[in-house]
Amino acid sequence: AREFTIAIDGPAASGKSSTARAVAKELGFGYIDSGSIYRCATLLALRQGIAADKIDEHISELASLISEASMEIRIQKDAGRHTIGLAAAAGRLVVPGVQVLLNSEDVSKEIRTPEVNRLVAKVASDRSVREAVLHMQRALAAAAESSSTTIRQKGKDIKVPGGVVMDGRDIGTTVFPTAELKIYLDASPMARAIRRWDELSNQVKDAAKAKRLSNSRNTGGAGDGQSTKPAVTVQADYPSVEDIARELEQRDYQDINREHSPLRIASDAVVIDNTNLTFEQQVYSIADLARERM
Ligand code: C5P
Repeated sequence: AREFTIAIDGPAASGKSSTARAVAKELGFGYIDSGSIYRCATLLALRQGIAADKIDEHISELASLISEASMEIRIQKDAGRHTIGLAAAAGRLVVPGVQVLLNSEDVSKEIRTPEVNRLVAKVASDRSVREAVLHMQRALAAAAESSSTTIRQKGKDIKVPGGVVMDGRDIGTTVFPTAELKIYLDASPMARAIRRWDELSNQVKDAAKAKRLSNSRNTGGAGDGQSTKPAVTVQADYPSVEDIARELEQRDYQDINREHSPLRIASDAVVIDNTNLTFEQQVYSIADLARERM
């Protein structure tokens, strides 16, 4: 049986995923990003060519596709800059990146496209989809959980429990209602939109850089005197902060107002508003709360 479970819930872009990963790393726990499971389910729907307004008609087909799918969430040792956001990028904590495999295919990027963002809350509102995802969440958590170890500290043997950190919307209320520690992470809507915008612009910059590199390689590389000149200008092909704020608000509205497992603050959750916290402050305070309860 799992010894220690940390459930981190909260609205979109409140920093759950990077915080959960850093906390898992700090405590030596496994980590599961449950949003990525709903995102994979949404990708399956898009690939089946199911239109947004036809989801309801095809829901049982979609639920069985999810039940038959295999998923893997791999933690990468390196920091994933675009997934950290401004506060963390300036800090010292290294946040491991994650790779998401759906039926053995790396879909890490594809599950974060605007199409998936637009459709995911609709897919996640269905009861049979949530049931299929619930099985997957529990199976992935069982696979990811670390086992207990004994460390020697100040001349004493201390048993450190094994555990798992899972983030999402209903982890503390539905998926793991008996989790040892429940956190509800929130931030002001503008702070969340700015962080998401920052992530997006970093992704665009990274993609442009990769393109420049491959262009300069194709044209003979560094020796041609062209390599310092950008081959592509970073054109703002991404939404404004206001657009993102609107999208997050719509998604939160759907997540809060759906019938099955809506986003709620569990009665025994510790609420952390990180609008004015540094990334380190919030990660260490959550890790300390966990240690106090071990
Ligand atoms: O966390 P992330 O933003 O990737 O989640 C994407 C969507 O997946 C959420 O907006 C929500 O609709 C759904 N979700 C959910 N329950 C969870 C995790 C995610 O309904 N535990």
